[in-house]
Amino acid sequence: MDSIHIWGGVALQGEVCIQGSKNATLPILAATLLTGECSYIKNCPRISDVYAMASLLRSLGCTVIWQENGLLVDSSSVKRGEMCSEAVRGMRSSLCLLGAMLGRCSEVVMEHPGGCVIGSRPIDLHIAALEQMGVEFREEAGMLKASADRLHGAEITLPKPSVGATENIILAGVMAEGDTILEGAALEPEIAALCRYLEHCGACIEGIGSSRLVIRGGRTLYGTDFEVPADRIVAGTYLLACIGTGGSIFLERAPGDELEAVIKLAERMGGKLYFSEEGIYVQGPDRPKSVERIETATYPGFPTDLQSVALAVETMGEGDTIIEEKIFENRFRIVEELRKMGACIEQLEETRVLVRGVPALHGAETEAKELRGGAALAVAGLMAQGKTCVSGCLYIYRGYENICRDLRELGARIISV
Ligand code: UD1
Repeated sequence: MDSIHIWGGVALQGEVCIQGSKNATLPILAATLLTGECSYIKNCPRISDVYAMASLLRSLGCTVIWQENGLLVDSSSVKRGEMCSEAVRGMRSSLCLLGAMLGRCSEVVMEHPGGCVIGSRPIDLHIAALEQMGVEFREEAGMLKASADRLHGAEITLPKPSVGATENIILAGVMAEGDTILEGAALEPEIAALCRYLEHCGACIEGIGSSRLVIRGGRTLYGTDFEVPADRIVAGTYLLACIGTGGSIFLERAPGDELEAVIKLAERMGGKLYFSEEGIYVQGPDRPKSVERIETATYPGFPTDLQSVALAVETMGEGDTIIEEKIFENRFRIVEELRKMGACIEQLEETRVLVRGVPALHGAETEAKELRGGAALAVAGLMAQGKTCVSGCLYIYRGYENICRDLRELGARIISV
């Protein structure tokens, strides 16, 4: 089932419930290791990255069981600090197990997570911060070995607000001796979700949601129940798909307060949005307007994870748009695929493109080369006249529970084959 076929040109209509957040689920699952007890994490999305995290936890000695829409994780018998190389290689976010395992055991061995398809994705910030907390790193035969006889609090300033590094510092910090003061923490809502889970477990973290966190270390943590919030990136994908197709949809559970930059963009593109406690109602324009410039930024700026979807929508915009990617260097691999559908896009630099809107796209054979770019091709397929095939959809399933089912609920003609 690694292809998606779409018969496009249909305005989305209807309502869909937004799945749990991938980027919140993964570090929270890693954090379950710290309690040595049982936690029930509700609303986990059934996506391949979550399955991979569950197998990594099992390989470390945890019992992990699906129960209804959640994962029950019992981390009482964690013995080993060595992670299965294949699972680490397949998933960059296995990196958050580093902080969690250092909090739990004194030594961790994992394959170097290395680069990935959207850019080089270095881990220098993770290493420098954990070193300040007493961790020693060695590289042996491609394996990264981290050990800490005594994990201690520290005053850390992140030179760049890395989401993953912030999470690793929090995970190690709650188990360290003494307090950790983190300046320059990333502000992404998934970090606040991780902190709230840890608070439920008994941790004390001050400044949640701000760039200065004080993590009080050394408290005993207990297993707990916790509900993962809705996925703002999945909600943003469907929201923008509605703008692109001129549809009218309701996104149940969509977190409006976390989507400010996306909502602003959708309004500038001509969309009308209405908010309620239950979600967001979106009405798309007949044809999206081109906004002059879209630039990705760390939260609360426009998310890099929705850049490709915004690009796909602007291919049919009325006018020109410059899109600049400021977070990852290799996030325009979708450009050549969109050109096959009739899009007019000029690559100005590695991280900057000029999109000249065309009145219509046509269906084509395309290939997903990474997760968010793949979802954006599905959105382009919805907007295009005729049939679009997207191959390589295993990437999409890393982050979207069932994109075809969701879009069918919104009236799209889309199947996975
Ligand atoms: C997380 C998200 C990902 C999102 C990204 C940015 C998860 C599982 N993934 O990824 O979906 O696109 O945030 O919002 O939550 N950097 C360094 N050195 C480091 C670490 C990062 O230079 O040690 C750089 C990266 O190359 C990038 C920037 O910092 O340019 C941001 O990366 P980071 O916030 O760490 O992203 P991830 O946590 O990997």
